Amino acid sequence: MSRIFSGIQPTGDLQLGNYLGALKNWVMLQHDHDCIYCVVDLHAITMWQDPKLLAPNTREVTAGLIASGLDPDKNIIFNQSQVPQHAELAWIFNCVSRLGWLNRMTQFKDKAGKDRENASVGLYAYPNLMASDILLYKANGVPVGEDQKQHLELSRDIAQKFNNDYGVDFFPLPEPLILGEATRVMSLRDGTKKMSKSDPSEASRINMTDGPDSIAKKIRKAKTDPEDLPGDPKDLAGRPEAANLIGIYAALSDQSLADVCTQFDGAQFSAFKVDLTELAVSVLGPIGKEMARMMRDPVYLDGVLSTGSERARAIAVPILGDVYDIVGLLQSQS
Ligand code: AMP
Ligand code: TRP
Repeated sequence: MSRIFSGIQPTGDLQLGNYLGALKNWVMLQHDHDCIYCVVDLHAITMWQDPKLLAPNTREVTAGLIASGLDPDKNIIFNQSQVPQHAELAWIFNCVSRLGWLNRMTQFKDKAGKDRENASVGLYAYPNLMASDILLYKANGVPVGEDQKQHLELSRDIAQKFNNDYGVDFFPLPEPLILGEATRVMSLRDGTKKMSKSDPSEASRINMTDGPDSIAKKIRKAKTDPEDLPGDPKDLAGRPEAANLIGIYAALSDQSLADVCTQFDGAQFSAFKVDLTELAVSVLGPIGKEMARMMRDPVYLDGVLSTGSERARAIAVPILGDVYDIVGLLQSQS
């Protein structure tokens, strides 16, 4: 895998699903790969964002990436809007991608809800911008949570159609990297719903900045079922809340589901929850503290994003230039 790219939206508090589905894997990948990690502010505004909060939220997510263990010297960390080539390539992809493909995207259907006529064009074209993010760097590995799989398939379709339409072998087909034991962390209130920053219920998620009391309270109140914990992961079928909590435990402790089931075979949820709380506090506590510390130094965070953007542009500009040549757009020779 030569180059890794992934993105995260600055739309609110980072939550445990972001950490286990994405950030933890990004941190692991940085050791053996060239990695580019992007705070996707242009994606964020596909749903209205308060202009006063967008910059602070962008800094907070950046702080979250660094506090989770990403080294800003080793990796390129930047925000999307500082590299205008993302939007430029996205326009070209708007002309490659097909309405029929976008119509199948489940995230659009979920986010647009019933009033689809009133959704922004940006929300609809969101996956084309995502393909542009990845392909602007010719990245071939994309670490994401399970919910982004469909968008990744669309990115592959766009890369392939571009190559076919223009008779070139230019873009690689990016591979989704869906890693770990918690690729889809579910709401603590409803094991059939994804844990999300945008869920109106605070009790549904653990935020990366939650303190020990808040983590303990949310886990204590987390929905369970009347049975004890099973000794075999197969017996988690049909028990979404149990599967979710055990998956979270496994991912946080770097163990397999089977190991965690063996460890807690026959335990009651009340006992398991005490251990889960201790584990979650031990992993998230230091990250939350470090985020809070960095948030008091916006000059540092802005510097990381500015340097990262410069490094990103150095890769993106020549690739976009090649795309313009392939498409046949006339450029002045300077
Ligand atoms: P977003 O917050 O939507 O920008 O997501 C950023 C990254 O976190 C993506 O790779 C998502 O797949 C991942 N992610 C978000 N929520 C979850 C979740 N509940 N479980 C697993 N991964 C998630
Ligand atoms: N759509 C992704 C999400 O909401 C964020 C994202 C934007 C992304 N561009 C990307 C992820 C490129 C991976 C690669 O989770």
